[in-house]
Amino acid sequence: MTDPKPLPSRSERPWWRDAVTYQIYIRSFADANGDGKGDVNGIRTRLPYLKQLGVDALWITPWYPSPQIDHGYDVADYMDIEPEYGTLEQAELLIKETHEHGMKLLVDIVPNHSSDKHVWFQEALKSQPGSPARDRYMFRDGKGKDGELPPNNWQAVFGGPAWERVRGIDGKLEQWYLHLFAVEQPDFNWENSEVRTYFEKVLMFWLDRGVDGFRIDVAHGMVKMAGLPDVVAPDPKAEMLAPENRPFWDQDGVHEIYRQWRKILDSYPGDRMAVAEAWVSPASRIARYLRHDELANSFNFDFLSAPWEPVMLKKMIDRSMQALQEVGAPSSWVFNNHDVVRSVDRFDLDLTPGKANTTLERQGDPAKFNIARGTRRARAGALLMLALPGGAYVYQGEELALPEAREIPEDRLTDPRWSLSKHTDRGRDGCRVPLPWRSESEGAFGFSTNSALTPTEAWLPQSSTWGSFAVNLQDKDPDSTLNLYRNALAIRRSEPELGDGQMTWLNAGSLVLAFTRSDDFACYVNFGPAIDLPAGSEILVSSSPIEGNSLPSDTAVWLRLNKK
Ligand code: NOJ
Repeated sequence: MTDPKPLPSRSERPWWRDAVTYQIYIRSFADANGDGKGDVNGIRTRLPYLKQLGVDALWITPWYPSPQIDHGYDVADYMDIEPEYGTLEQAELLIKETHEHGMKLLVDIVPNHSSDKHVWFQEALKSQPGSPARDRYMFRDGKGKDGELPPNNWQAVFGGPAWERVRGIDGKLEQWYLHLFAVEQPDFNWENSEVRTYFEKVLMFWLDRGVDGFRIDVAHGMVKMAGLPDVVAPDPKAEMLAPENRPFWDQDGVHEIYRQWRKILDSYPGDRMAVAEAWVSPASRIARYLRHDELANSFNFDFLSAPWEPVMLKKMIDRSMQALQEVGAPSSWVFNNHDVVRSVDRFDLDLTPGKANTTLERQGDPAKFNIARGTRRARAGALLMLALPGGAYVYQGEELALPEAREIPEDRLTDPRWSLSKHTDRGRDGCRVPLPWRSESEGAFGFSTNSALTPTEAWLPQSSTWGSFAVNLQDKDPDSTLNLYRNALAIRRSEPELGDGQMTWLNAGSLVLAFTRSDDFACYVNFGPAIDLPAGSEILVSSSPIEGNSLPSDTAVWLRLNKK
């Protein structure tokens, strides 16, 4: 390992080395026009809340015109706003107002695939095999006597084959196209220079409007292995975090794209950046996306996928720190997003050793679920994450300790995973239910300005318990999870050594993760029975109440050391 270069001070280094970024799933954040779906103006009304929370940046999930098959990740037009969500003018106002509140704003860019309603795909369907219009996507002839078999054995992430056969203009079945996700999400052909130029224009379109950066969807997927070879031992469905290399993930060619994008980002003032959604492992593969001429951040999904257990978490932290140090990049810690079971639930799952992705399982037995324990752990996890060197990503509702919504009736499930898995995977709706802003049920617990809207009439039905997590209640309760996040983020801001930098592990026993960030700042996370905290230390914040000097189980604390 090379010696880390000394970092410039926090005010002198790019903001994205330290930032805590809040992910807004726009459809479920706040509904200003009363239709039961979140929108751009809803976000605008909540900027003071986000400012008070203390985050540095916002990431908004796709807000472009879209048939909403995958809730915006099926983009029909990359340079406009979905009419259900508002207008381009409102989006421009949001960008400006976010800046006035002292925060940055990232938009989500979806370059691996478009919607099948994108003009280019519609044109491709009407064009001949081999035509320039077809070449923008991944059309191939089928195998078998009449091309009736898919071109290879790839499976889609959402389940089922990754190929769909189309009919020609004469109505006869002919070529197939690749869709690594839903059938309605055809993959672009990134060997095509028009595709590359188009996305450069998309980046500039939003950069010109003042966005500070991009979250890149499926950043490890755009380039496919030449010849599109079969997967040797295919999974029933492709996993994003593949157990071994796949011909459609993490190919070397993606890095050339990011080198080009970095030049575009750097041609604008103000440390514009991009964060990769690259489900790659181990961390040394992540580091490749963060070389000095590529991207700024990449989510640490190894950390997110780790169970609530100190050995595995420590291993993931160490690996990330070492690998990213090699390329001089900061780590980006994350426990929640719109694709995974909320940490309140995940951290309470029984652990089955050796089972990959156990912590991302959506099913589980709700009867065995202990929400108090899950919440306690999620709160401790928050202090762990926010004390680690680098930046962090917080998903809306995480600051309210929202659990997974498990009781959504089957006929209200909307995630394409549900239908494409032939109703074996309930999908991701449980972590996407609209936020409760007020404890009274009117307006879907304050989610909507339409007071007549009931909790079950929101676009995804809210659980009957949602009111007990509401912002207005948590605001008043000094011990609420909302106030825990506010306190931790305020301390993080005032402690110059937090954010990016170094950490030093302390030995506090095998069931404790303990580390210092400076001579006088330490974080202790206890996974086992109560332990004594170092004598003479002052508690800055704790995830659960602490009596005397004893740190109880499933509790984290930030300490000022050596206080006399
Ligand atoms: C990753 C996004 O986070 C997820 O929500 C989406 O379904 C897939 N990419 C496909 O775009």
